[in-house]
Amino acid sequence: MSRETSLFSGRPSELVGQQIAGYRIEQEIGRGGMAVVYRARDLRLERTVALKLLAPELARNDTFRRRFTHESRAAAAIDHPHIVPVFEAGETDGVLYIAMRFVAGSDLRHLLDREGPLPPATAVRVAAQVASALDAAHDHGLVHRDVKPGNILVSRGTDSDHPEHVYLTDFGLTKKSLSLTGFTTVGQFVGTLDYVAPEQISGRPVDARCDVYGLACVVYEILAGHPPFLRDDDMALLWAHQYDDPPPLTEARPDLPPQVDPVFAKALAKRPDDRYPSCLDFVAALRAAAAGGGVVTGAAPARAGRQPGEERPKPPPRWAEPVFVERA
Ligand SMILES: Nc1ncnc2c1ncn2[C@@H]1O[C@H](COP(=O)(O)OP(=O)(O)O)[C@@H](O)[C@H]1O
Ligand SMILES: [Mg+2]
Repeated sequence: MSRETSLFSGRPSELVGQQIAGYRIEQEIGRGGMAVVYRARDLRLERTVALKLLAPELARNDTFRRRFTHESRAAAAIDHPHIVPVFEAGETDGVLYIAMRFVAGSDLRHLLDREGPLPPATAVRVAAQVASALDAAHDHGLVHRDVKPGNILVSRGTDSDHPEHVYLTDFGLTKKSLSLTGFTTVGQFVGTLDYVAPEQISGRPVDARCDVYGLACVVYEILAGHPPFLRDDDMALLWAHQYDDPPPLTEARPDLPPQVDPVFAKALAKRPDDRYPSCLDFVAALRAAAAGGGVVTGAAPARAGRQPGEERPKPPPRWAEPVFVERA
């Protein structure tokens, strides 16, 4: 089949209103390093789906084509309440696509940009859901390797006990456990280096504990408002992941009990052997530590940069309140 894409040669916005493989494209809803994701209408089943298309500039690159196909299989292999269900994947007119459940709400990147740090109870709830998805992937012998806020989707939950339902997505970098990683693979580290484990950087074998590290970086950011390491350039950031101790979380969140600091120190240990063995073990320790000081509810702290006494732009989300805003 020709790799020239007549459908998908120009700007992605040109696709709105077009039909691809029985899906009518309605609106762009997100993009990452590899793909553009649209809200689309499944014309056969008359339902809304998320349609992920391999970015046109990557569609001629075999590495990305393989990765994209691999993604649909990896995600579809795991049936889990916190992993976005894949409905169908294929290729039409040179365009590779994945149709999956449309998650109304927001990804965690946008949520954190909008809300700032979240209250501890919200953070623990979100962390637990992502952790259960990651542990399920690990049970299938898969390592996600790209745990970051942009790959976590937050939607409305079922009731006030479960105010949000969280999905892990983007299995594009998923690998079989214990496979080697490194910078040699084309475009592996497209995007952010804020959540990358030391063994991913140095090209040592990765297993579930690589995702424990990534998850801990994300949860640290949910609570602190920034990831564990802040450096001016990528090389310094890579160095920090490999050799520097993360600053104690309580420096950014003095409202949290000191017991949380050793939990992050362990989850962010340089050696995988020194970390929690699973993501849910990490979250269980975090939950206990956060409760240890009796602080499980309450408002998020002020955002960095606000002057004392300055009006808050808007009230912080109360922890029992859903923290997402639905897309228009
Ligand atoms: N099923 C979905 N429902 C709603 N939005 C989604 C869905 N999948 C992805 N998105 C949005 O699209 C963005 C990019 O998707 P992602 O799968 O992470 O692509 P990439 O591989 O390019 O990083 C996500 O950060 C999210 O905002
Ligand atoms: Mg992504």
